Amino acid sequence: MSLHLSEAMAYLQYQLGADVDSSGRAVIDTSWSTQLQSSEHLWMLLEGTHVLTLMLFAGTILFVDLRLLGLVFRKAPVSAVADTVLPYTVAGFVIMAATGAALFFANPLEYYHNPVFRLKALFLVAASINIFIFHWRVQANRTKWDASDRPPAAARTAAGISLVLWIAVIVAGRYAAYDWFRCGQATGVVAELAQCTEFETTLVEAEQELAV
Ligand code: HEM
Repeated sequence: MSLHLSEAMAYLQYQLGADVDSSGRAVIDTSWSTQLQSSEHLWMLLEGTHVLTLMLFAGTILFVDLRLLGLVFRKAPVSAVADTVLPYTVAGFVIMAATGAALFFANPLEYYHNPVFRLKALFLVAASINIFIFHWRVQANRTKWDASDRPPAAARTAAGISLVLWIAVIVAGRYAAYDWFRCGQATGVVAELAQCTEFETTLVEAEQELAV
């Protein structure tokens, strides 16, 4: 299953949109993914938008989490703080997810086998599950504590977990750019977690399929 995913990433990276020669083989460096990665301005525009939108997304989440922890805006109901910033959080998330997906598309095989990127994806999923639990379990009786300057322990716990997980996503996002832990450098358990042997196999096979 995971080898199939690795091969799918190689297809995106080397084949999709590529020119083909007379024998039908994809011509090296012509795929859409490679073109995006080597673009003069587009990649940087996407990266810049991804990072700047972080302020909109993480900044507004910070306000809500700090209010839930009872540390800021204590006189304002939780719902007033949350509802005021929600459109900005959602807009930030949509732009971050879209630009993030596009950045991923510029180098899919490497990101897929990048252990730090995998950690980021894991933290993203965990943070999303935390939001889900908060909405369905903790917030169910919000009317009771909406105006409270110190919401109940369950709400404070969810807010604390949210802060830790989103900070972890940001730190992992920043470190994913460096090659310290990538296949080729990674050893031992890190290389295992990133499935580096599979990465090498897929890479060799993908390169053999290209027209020279
Ligand atoms: C919504 C929450 C997200 C946050 C808080 C976040 C955060 C970050 C941060 C801080 C960076 C580092 C930028 C830099 O300083 O160079 C980054 C880069 C990146 N993110 Fe995200 N991201 C998010 C969502 C996503 C998603 C959903 C994807 C993919 C589907 C993604 C893919 C990427 C990629 C590919 C990079 C470029 C890494 C590099 O420079 O090589 N991100 N992100």
